[in-house]
Amino acid sequence: MEENTLLDNYYLKASELETHKDGEIQQFIESSEWHYIQYPLGRNVDLLKNLNSIGLLEKNVNICDCGIGLGTTMYDLYLQSKEIEDLKFTFTGIEKWKPYIDYFNDNLSVYWDNNLKIIHSDIIDCDYSNWNFIYIFQPFKTAGKTMPFYKRVLETAKPNTLIFGIDQFNVMMYGEKYEGLIELFKKTEKINCGQWTLLRKI
Ligand SMILES: C[S@@+](CC[C@H](N)C(=O)[O-])C[C@H]1O[C@@H](n2cnc3c(N)ncnc32)[C@H](O)[C@@H]1O
Repeated sequence: MEENTLLDNYYLKASELETHKDGEIQQFIESSEWHYIQYPLGRNVDLLKNLNSIGLLEKNVNICDCGIGLGTTMYDLYLQSKEIEDLKFTFTGIEKWKPYIDYFNDNLSVYWDNNLKIIHSDIIDCDYSNWNFIYIFQPFKTAGKTMPFYKRVLETAKPNTLIFGIDQFNVMMYGEKYEGLIELFKKTEKINCGQWTLLRKI
């Protein structure tokens, strides 16, 4: 099957789980966390190719999505990784909400050929030193949840790790109350690559 068709099929299959209609969303409201929102395809076209072209990817690229949901974004990157033959990739997703993991196992794991590891955990409790590419896309709704999480990622990630989704504006606006966060943030460099802005831990 054509890779675009695979991604389109994955997107459609993931769309069939409509959490909002189950009433489960109440749980996310109470914990100030975002439920899975499947963003339109096209946000990350050629992301890996672009990063590789400016020498940012190591020989082994170990990617972690913090709050993977049903994994559509990671699946896009997985398909992209197949076109970069000289590098090795691994894919991991951390997800707290068990119904997403169950739906993934029943309906979507077949697309992955065993190449995605899902960890059932809270992203605030994880140690990020096993990965060198950390992808974050709005798991939390409030600074009170977001800042300690940013701190955890910046503290535990290894030097040279690429980090997507830590927002400089938010860190500067709310970070002072979280001891050590701004200092940790200053130990990163900001990288612009095409339409993306990311950090690299120094
Ligand atoms: C906005 S979606 C992002 C999905 C995916 N990362 C992407 O970019 O397409 C947020 C996801 O984070 C998960 N999430 C929220 N809080 C979490 C937590 N504390 N630990 C683990 N996962 C969490 C939600 O269940 C949901 O799947």
